[in-house]
Amino acid sequence: MRIPLSSPDITENEIDAVVSVMRTARLSLGPKLEEFENAVAAYTGAAHAVAVNSGTSGLHLVMRALGITDGDEVIVPSFTFIAVANAVRYERAIPVFVDIDAETLNLDPAKIEAAITPRTRAILAVHTFGQPADMSSIFRIARKHGLRVIEDACEAIGAEYDGCKVGPLGDAGVFAFYPNKQITTGEGGVIVTQSSQIAALARAQRNQGRTHPGEWLEHGELGYNYRLSEINCALGIEQLKRLESILKRRAEIARAYHRRLGGNPDLKLPLQDLPGCRISWFVYVVRLGERFIQQQRDWIWKEMGSRGIGCGRYFAPIHWQPAYENFEGVRHALPNTEGSAARSLALPFFNNLKPSELDEVCATLQELMRAVPD
Ligand SMILES: Cc1ncc(COP(=O)(O)O)c(C=O)c1O
Repeated sequence: MRIPLSSPDITENEIDAVVSVMRTARLSLGPKLEEFENAVAAYTGAAHAVAVNSGTSGLHLVMRALGITDGDEVIVPSFTFIAVANAVRYERAIPVFVDIDAETLNLDPAKIEAAITPRTRAILAVHTFGQPADMSSIFRIARKHGLRVIEDACEAIGAEYDGCKVGPLGDAGVFAFYPNKQITTGEGGVIVTQSSQIAALARAQRNQGRTHPGEWLEHGELGYNYRLSEINCALGIEQLKRLESILKRRAEIARAYHRRLGGNPDLKLPLQDLPGCRISWFVYVVRLGERFIQQQRDWIWKEMGSRGIGCGRYFAPIHWQPAYENFEGVRHALPNTEGSAARSLALPFFNNLKPSELDEVCATLQELMRAVPD
């Protein structure tokens, strides 16, 4: 794509940091891992950070650390990335889908309680597109019903709720660092938690169940290879140092989109501000007005692509995926999820997006909206 949907922002300094690791003999389980984990913990205010090779593996280890298992139920949104529900299913537990709020696109707390059953163990709150979920309502419901709270902060590093960084607010949270994220490690994720027990479990299980790290051939429990290499960590350390300036830049781009698209009555723009919160802009997702149907959104998406402008249809809800056909966790009506999914379009959004590109994206989008076939 001439103007891609996303694009990583890697500096020469970051390339040098990666190359320096490659000149050493320590490519995994070395000092960069510890440094990256300490930096993420310090930045987010978490007592512990455990780096893993993806956000998905982080979510999986959190499920295991919380003892979520066969037939347990976990409340999740469907308007999100499939890894959220898959991580629950890896442990033969059931993700139960609850609708989102049409404004925030996050789990609607008013709809959570109706989905709680005697088998419910946890609420997995996703900070969708970097916008903090309504954590105080979620904590109130969780306390009332004795549930654990997991934050999927994969799209939200640096976002703040009530003056605190998201991630370690509940029992555990997970960040992800795929190249389309605010900062990247190539592939990677980090679990954050205030619990030393959860951290110890995740640390052992990411490394083949080694409970004593010095004992290479002793495996105290069932584990996985979810390790993050020194090379990835070196990139993460340097990217994290720039996170604050990256977030400022992304907020500027979001404002620039708002200025250009704000006057169009056929477009619903993402919320600019949430009281008491700081948004960490991951993507910029607009929704077409009610008069547009899904096929027309798809036509616009395709036409944008044919003109070299990369857009995304975020999200195709999890319960629409063939992998979730006739799935037992689809029990509740999800009108806001389905309405938003049918009309949403993620526009190109990355640190180095130029004003001329932004102009072109906005002009082309609006031209296509006018030209869309019935
Ligand atoms: C909300 C959410 N959860 C989980 C993940 C999984 O992260 P990863 O791709 O690093 O496995 C993503 C990644 O895009 C995500 O957006």
